[in-house]
Amino acid sequence: MIERRQAAGAGNRLCIAGGPDYIFEPVRIDPHSFADPSQGKTTHVAFDWSVDFDARVLRGSVTLTLDAPRRGPLDLDTRGLTIEAVEDGDAGTLRFELGEDQPVLGRRLRIFRNEPLGVVTIRYTTSPEASALMWLEPSQTASGNHPFLLSQCQAIHARSIAPLQDTPAIRITYDATVAIPDGLSAVMSAAPGQAAGDASQLSFHMPQPIPPYLLAIAVGELDSRDLGPRTRVHAEPTVVDAAAQEFAEVEQMLEAAEGLFGPYEWERYDFIVLPPSFPLGGMENPRMTFLTPTLLAGDRSLVSVLAHELAHSWTGNLITNATNEDFWLNEGWTVYAERRIVEVLYGKEAAAQQARLGRVTLDETLKSREKAGKRTALSYDQAGLDPDGEFSKIPYEKGFLFVSALERAVGRARFDAFIKHYLSTFRFQSLTTAQFAELVGEALPDAAATVDIDAWLFTDGLPADAPTFESERLAKLSELATAWPDDPARLDQTTSDWTTTEALFFLSQLSELDAPDTEALGDWLGLRDTGNAELQCVWLARAAAADVDGIADELTAFVGRVGRTKLVVPVLQAMLEQPALSELARQLIERNHVRWHSSTRLAVATL
Ligand code: BES
Ligand code: ZN
Repeated sequence: MIERRQAAGAGNRLCIAGGPDYIFEPVRIDPHSFADPSQGKTTHVAFDWSVDFDARVLRGSVTLTLDAPRRGPLDLDTRGLTIEAVEDGDAGTLRFELGEDQPVLGRRLRIFRNEPLGVVTIRYTTSPEASALMWLEPSQTASGNHPFLLSQCQAIHARSIAPLQDTPAIRITYDATVAIPDGLSAVMSAAPGQAAGDASQLSFHMPQPIPPYLLAIAVGELDSRDLGPRTRVHAEPTVVDAAAQEFAEVEQMLEAAEGLFGPYEWERYDFIVLPPSFPLGGMENPRMTFLTPTLLAGDRSLVSVLAHELAHSWTGNLITNATNEDFWLNEGWTVYAERRIVEVLYGKEAAAQQARLGRVTLDETLKSREKAGKRTALSYDQAGLDPDGEFSKIPYEKGFLFVSALERAVGRARFDAFIKHYLSTFRFQSLTTAQFAELVGEALPDAAATVDIDAWLFTDGLPADAPTFESERLAKLSELATAWPDDPARLDQTTSDWTTTEALFFLSQLSELDAPDTEALGDWLGLRDTGNAELQCVWLARAAAADVDGIADELTAFVGRVGRTKLVVPVLQAMLEQPALSELARQLIERNHVRWHSSTRLAVATL
């Protein structure tokens, strides 16, 4: 899986003898990593950390075990780390060199091995600005009593937590010992070790090999509830019961997913509902999905995000994109898998509606990226580009349509057999787009004959014969939206039984409204005081655009509370485009950006 192509500029290995060290031109397999697997591949990592909330750092060491002892340089990825020492297995010190700080990649740590060596220990401290870590003040938590630490490593932030071969082309198992302050608890993307007497000395073990971006830790005041024999939800004490209510169906989701994709390979499926600064809807950290509390709508209307993260246990965590250029393999497949789970649990109509709404998002994304001169192919050269800057709905929704096109070409029954074949062939491996295309050519030759695979994968835009998804209910809502608010028929409409997808779709079909109509819309659909943060976000963005009277306080409260990029960005964007609110938007960015994850900051900075 790793021996594919070389990044631009990386030549063949040179070995010039004569100097004290060898001079190598490394073989790069991932444009976003300094790792060179011919120097050895990390197979196991052991962390020993102490969590220092005052200094906002992790302090300690990491020990890397390689697949085989090797001589010569070992190149690792780092960002913002202070390296104190590098040792071989016997506590002898090794010479090392930190390269220049590069804008996307960070700094290369080169360790020099004069003898064949398969184990190195690095003593180091993270930076308080580590791009993966969020050190929250007590005021940013539900209880307000304790600080909170959380991590978000995908795509290339793991290197800000530890020196690693930070590419998803390699897979590692890991152990961790973590010292935390009294009164707090910790979870990781791993199994907790046996509780020792001391609750502030924790241990974790991850026996399944994972790409480094799935490393994860959260530390705070936590409680938990069992939801089933292999599922448990963690959250702050004042949130945990609401979280247990919202996600009570998780075991059914797990069973539905196993029915579709085969046995769950990670033993337990636990998850944590984090404070609102968490930048994502969800993150598929294995054994411990991370979720935003903005999913707690009170009516289980946003649980498909949990289905999505669960689905990654097969598509993403079991089979992993080899590099960020293959990211659609993770997300396109997972959106497909998520909608299959939704179909089993909530019916064909619900799944078709989500696909139809996805198409609306895709069309908007295609338009805006084309306008900005950005690529819209599923896979393209990302050398020199920041994965966070490349993030968009393209790999999700275009990827979903591509997988659906393959399914339609051969029919559901044969495609389901192909899914099982795909999963069993590449389980616990990393995969490139080219390898996937090759597999389709072999296993589904007739699909390869009717679906233009190269066009789907490597061409911008959307093939003209892309699958479509229809829903009669959505078609009616589209008509209603075109006539709104003048159509008196709206007064006969009951909106209380609309699903979130229906409401979001209706909102997406409305033209720009003036302030009174925007307020009327909010009242009509109950959007102003909804517990559904996705709907609230869409209405607030419209209210900002229309400069609804007295909206500033609501906008200020929303941006001050929610850190989820998907919700913060549209609201701030609408404010910046509204002259009456753009100054407030700039103040809110200034005031809140320290509380955002580095990826959220980047998304806001590019508005
Ligand atoms: N793995 C992604 C989140 C991610 C992607 C983090 C790229 C960093 C870089 C996760 O599975 C995801 O897609 N989350 C979505 C929810 C989903 C239902 C589309 C999100 O957070 O919005
Ligand atoms: Zn995902």
